Amino acid sequence: MARHVIRFLRQGRIVEQAGFHPRTTLLDYLRLEERSVGTKEGCAEGDCGACTVALGRVKHGSLVYEPVNACIALLGQVDGAEILTVEDLAQGGRLHPVQEAMVQHHGSQCGFCTPGIVMSLFTLYEQAPRPVTREAVNDALAGNLCRCTGYRPIADAALTACAGEPTPASSTRRAHAAALLHELQASRDDDIVVGDDGTFFAAPASVPSLAQLYRQHPDATLVSGATDVGLWITKGLAELRKIIWLGRVSGLDGIQDRGDHILVGAGASLAAARPYLAAIDPDLDELMRRFGSAQVRAAGTVGGNIANGSPIGDLAPALIALGATLHLQRGSQTRTLPLEEFFIAYRRQDRQEGEFVSCLAVPKLAEHEHLRCFKVTKRFDEDISAVMGAFKLTLSGRRIVAARLAYGGMAGVPKRARGAEEALAGASLDEPASWEPALAAIGREFQPLTDQRASAAYRALVARNILFKALTEIGSGDTRGTRIVGQRERVHAAE
Ligand SMILES: Cc1cc2nc3c(=O)[nH]c(=O)nc-3n(C[C@H](O)[C@H](O)[C@H](O)COP(=O)(O)OP(=O)(O)OC[C@H]3O[C@@H](n4cnc5c(N)ncnc54)[C@H](O)[C@@H]3O)c2cc1C
Ligand code: FES
Ligand code: FES
Repeated sequence: MARHVIRFLRQGRIVEQAGFHPRTTLLDYLRLEERSVGTKEGCAEGDCGACTVALGRVKHGSLVYEPVNACIALLGQVDGAEILTVEDLAQGGRLHPVQEAMVQHHGSQCGFCTPGIVMSLFTLYEQAPRPVTREAVNDALAGNLCRCTGYRPIADAALTACAGEPTPASSTRRAHAAALLHELQASRDDDIVVGDDGTFFAAPASVPSLAQLYRQHPDATLVSGATDVGLWITKGLAELRKIIWLGRVSGLDGIQDRGDHILVGAGASLAAARPYLAAIDPDLDELMRRFGSAQVRAAGTVGGNIANGSPIGDLAPALIALGATLHLQRGSQTRTLPLEEFFIAYRRQDRQEGEFVSCLAVPKLAEHEHLRCFKVTKRFDEDISAVMGAFKLTLSGRRIVAARLAYGGMAGVPKRARGAEEALAGASLDEPASWEPALAAIGREFQPLTDQRASAAYRALVARNILFKALTEIGSGDTRGTRIVGQRERVHAAE
């Protein structure tokens, strides 16, 4: 059965929307239609966080609030969710504890960033396990730019607000919202089509519906989290008349632990995938911590990061190094291929008309296998890689018997350094001279570009150096001499 409206929860009541253009953003809906102008537009590309709102959804039986950049989210994506904006937090004339603490700590000057910051802190307040640390606050604010207050008072406000458990008022509001969201879930199995054959926002509810719809409309744009596609709209002014949103496809966001590998559904959010990847290796946890921001990780998906074919996407090198397999589906036909073979040339992937990414099988590390992952950026937070390197070594004693080395930012596609891999086979962890042929091979295998992020010479040097660093760390079993942040010894100590 198909329905022709989207339904969401807003200010305590269920709202139905039909007749919107598929490319309508959530921010435009809030500001231009609803006139909830507390939510601001700064960059319109997901970077500044001024537009942050909270989306509440029932996940695994309980209500979860996540921060989202409304500027690059599509209105249709809020089907089944509660939208909370800065206007909604105060209750009975009392500010929300997060707002109260921002006032007490002088966390706002010009105030333009403040609604977004308050909404990010609201999701921290609602969701974060206690005690909330300053590190958790910093991570929660990585996607919120404040140009004039400075972060110390804002972080202090966050720590004050999150010092205790959420208040009874918060629990009451949550319970009311959860009941209404459960009501919305009753129509979870309906396919959604808003529009007509030429212009539509569609949200199939099952894999067969998706497969059928995409075969009928191979010219449609697939949208998962819209953290890439949203920018085509706001910055590229793309028309996008046919959109198929994957966020309601049952099972597409599943993640399963299959013993020696994990199976990650294409629609799994980056935030949901993070603990599974972190369990494989602490470097993957650090990689995911630095992937965009909390807002980007809540909306963006694993499938979107792979399918976009970006040469500087962060997951592809890491998953290629691990030996991941990509699963694709077209109609009822499915096929698999090693992830590296998916990337044919710059922005050209091995994906046929009407075919979509369904999931990825990601092997865990076996005994004697070691991983290191380095994301090199200009800024620590919320930045795209200049170079990303991921290296898996298989050891026999102190000797390297096999290596999988993958780079992003070094070519038009995420790419394995096959010459260096061959050169490392047989090298000893105790003889740095035996690493030299591999390090030299990196220089021959790649001809990186010069762009705003880095020069070709810088990229070539960094690519060589991070492989050297990985070998040094694996050889010594220590990262205290090689890292300022993300030391693995500290990560293990915290466990
Ligand atoms: C502020 C900001 C920071 C970012 N930081 C990072 C970063 O640190 N590292 C990084 O790698 N990326 C980063 N990105 C890019 C982006 O967030 C990621 O690539 C994200 O994983 C994309 O996922 P998505 O679900 O939002 O994709 P979408 O935007 O929904 O889709 C991306 C592309 O994939 C296609 N697609 C989506 N799902 C499927 C599917 N199942 N099958 C076939 N095609 C599909 C879409 O048609 C589109 O072409 C950032 C983006 C922003 C806005
Ligand atoms: S307006 Fe800057 S992140 Fe949305
Ligand atoms: S208070 Fe001015 S940008 Fe934050």
